[in-house]
Amino acid sequence: MAQIRIRNTNERIEDQEQVKAFLDAQHVLFEHWEPAKLPVELREKFALNDEEKAQILSVYDEEIRDLAARRGYEIWDVISLSDATPNIEELLKKFEQVHTHTEDEIRAIVAGKGIFIIKGEGEVGYFDVELEAGDVISVPENTNHFFTLMDNKQIVAVRLFIEKDGWIAFNVEDPEFIKA
Ligand SMILES: [Fe+2]
Repeated sequence: MAQIRIRNTNERIEDQEQVKAFLDAQHVLFEHWEPAKLPVELREKFALNDEEKAQILSVYDEEIRDLAARRGYEIWDVISLSDATPNIEELLKKFEQVHTHTEDEIRAIVAGKGIFIIKGEGEVGYFDVELEAGDVISVPENTNHFFTLMDNKQIVAVRLFIEKDGWIAFNVEDPEFIKA
């Protein structure tokens, strides 16, 4: 289950109702998919072939189509990252840049862990959302953020897009960004 850390105060929010309330107040969509639906052999597999990716999409087909119908997504895919990914360190460096998109950024974590760093409104400042299997999150459009992996460097996530070509990152140099 997701946990929040507010960078300005180092406050952590672990209670799931409070996590949901905090994210609601920040206009960050937070939902849950049942991680146990994923076949056991895929739960710890972070280098996936096309067949396995298609299998994941079919396991969560109902959840994907429900989200797509509610929020207008047209296409979706599966991304997997781990130490086995070529140039993973370089990729992570590239990820760790505050940016925005004109579309929201939605990720459903199906295995492993990941973390979104998001700029909250007003005095909240930057906060981390630590995510694990079953957590579904969407960072609103035009909101400063980045996504990266946690120490285990393993994740499988479903991504949904309204229009993939229109989904470009605009880097932001924000003096208010607190690194750790
Ligand atoms: Fe992004």
